[in-house]
Amino acid sequence: MTPVLHLGQTLAFPASPFEDGVSAADHHRHGAVLVADGKIAAVGPADALRAANPTLPVEDHGDALLMAGFIDAHAHYPQTAIIASWGKRLIDWLNCYTFPEELRFDDPQYAATVAERYLDLLVAQGTTSVCSYCTSHPVSADAIFAAAQARGMRLWAGKTCMDRNAPDGLCDTPRRAHDESASLLARWHGQDRLGYVITPRFSPTSSPAQLDALGALWAEYPDCLMQTHLSEQLDEIAWVRSLFPDARDYLDTYEAHGLLGENGLYGHAIHLEPRERDRLREVGAALIHCPTSNTFIGSGLFDMAGLTAMGLRIGLATDTGGGSSFSMLRSMAAAYEIAQLRGHALHPSELLWLATVGSARALKADDRIGNLEPGHEADFIALDLTSTPAIAQRAARAEDLWGAVFPTIMMGDDRAIAGVWLSGRRVK
Ligand code: GUN
Ligand code: ZN
Repeated sequence: MTPVLHLGQTLAFPASPFEDGVSAADHHRHGAVLVADGKIAAVGPADALRAANPTLPVEDHGDALLMAGFIDAHAHYPQTAIIASWGKRLIDWLNCYTFPEELRFDDPQYAATVAERYLDLLVAQGTTSVCSYCTSHPVSADAIFAAAQARGMRLWAGKTCMDRNAPDGLCDTPRRAHDESASLLARWHGQDRLGYVITPRFSPTSSPAQLDALGALWAEYPDCLMQTHLSEQLDEIAWVRSLFPDARDYLDTYEAHGLLGENGLYGHAIHLEPRERDRLREVGAALIHCPTSNTFIGSGLFDMAGLTAMGLRIGLATDTGGGSSFSMLRSMAAAYEIAQLRGHALHPSELLWLATVGSARALKADDRIGNLEPGHEADFIALDLTSTPAIAQRAARAEDLWGAVFPTIMMGDDRAIAGVWLSGRRVK
C-alpha cells in the first residue's frame, strides 16, 4: 500500500482530559495524518508534513475532523435484530426478547448473516473495533471472528457461557463451557487482529461450578480478557444475593471463582458497594459504561465522576441490543446526559477520549489503537462536523473545536461519519 497523506483537522490525545483537562488534546485546524503500511507514521500541521513529503499522494478531507475510530467496549452482536424492543426491564427483557433470539444462533448461516449485518452497521457508525458477546453456540463465535478477519477489523469476542436460568438450548455445562471456550481460544486468539474473551454472561446464569471452570481457564490464559456483567439493576442484584447467599456482594460471586483481575471487563457497574469499588480499583479492573442501555432498560445512573476520580479504567460502549443504538456518538450523548443527571458535565474532550483511548485502555490495546499516534494501527475516521442543517447551524456559532464538535456528539448519527479506514484501507 503506497503511503498517503490525509488532510483535515486532526485530533489526538497525548494525555487524558480527565487528568490534564483540554490541554490533553492535540488539535490541528489544518492538520495531516501520514499513513504508511497500515500504520500511522506521523500526525502534525499539514504544511510541515506536505513539505517533508512533497511527492506523496494527498487525500483532502476538507474541514472534517480526522481522529481515531470509535471503540465499542461491550456489545452483543447476536442482539442486532432485537435492538429497540419495547417495554421490559432487564430480566424480563432477557427472557422475552434476548434468549429467544439467541436460540437462533445454533444455525451457522443465520449467525454469519447477522455477523455481516452487524459489522456493516458498525463501520457505518465509525466504530472500528468492538468487544462483543456471542451466544453459547461456538458457531456464533466462529461467525463474528470470520467476518471481522475478512474485513481486517480488530475485534474481541467470546462464546457466552450459561448453565442455568436460561432455555435449555442456550445452556451448556461447566465442562462444555471450559472446553468449547478453550477450543475457540486456540482457534482464534491472536489470529490477525482477533482476541478471544472468556465470557461468563453473569452470575445468575452460571452455576458456581461453571464460574470455577471459567476461572480455571482464565488462570491458564491470564493474558486473555474476561468479560461479564456487574450490578446493572437492583432486581438483578437481589437475585444474585439469593443465588449466592455466602457472597459478600455481587463482585464477590466473581472474585470467589477466580473471575476478578486486571484483564477483567465489568459491564454496567452502576450500583456498586464501597467494597466493590475499592476492590475493582485495587486489582486494576476495567469498568464498561453502557449509557444508552442504562437508560433504555431503566438500570440507573453510572457514577462517571466518582469512578474516574478513583482512577479506575473506564471504557464506553453501546451494549447493543440492550443499548438502543449502534452509534458511539449516541453513546457519548447518553453518557453526557447521565452525568448531567448526577450533577456533572462531561467535556467533549472527555467524551471523545472515552470512546477511543478510554475503551482501548479498558481492552489493554491502547498501545495499538484508539489514538492518532505514530506507530498505531491506522484505524481512523473523518467526522463531518456539519452533517445536517441542525448541526451545521449550531456549529457555525462555535468558538473553538469543542464548540464545533459538541453538536455532532449530541445530535450526530451515521451521516456525520464521512470516512472510515481500517489499517489505512478505506471501508466507508
Ligand atoms: N445481563 C446479562 N445478560 C445481559 C444482556 O444481554 N444485556 C444486558 N444489558 N445485561 C445483561
Ligand atoms: Zn451486555
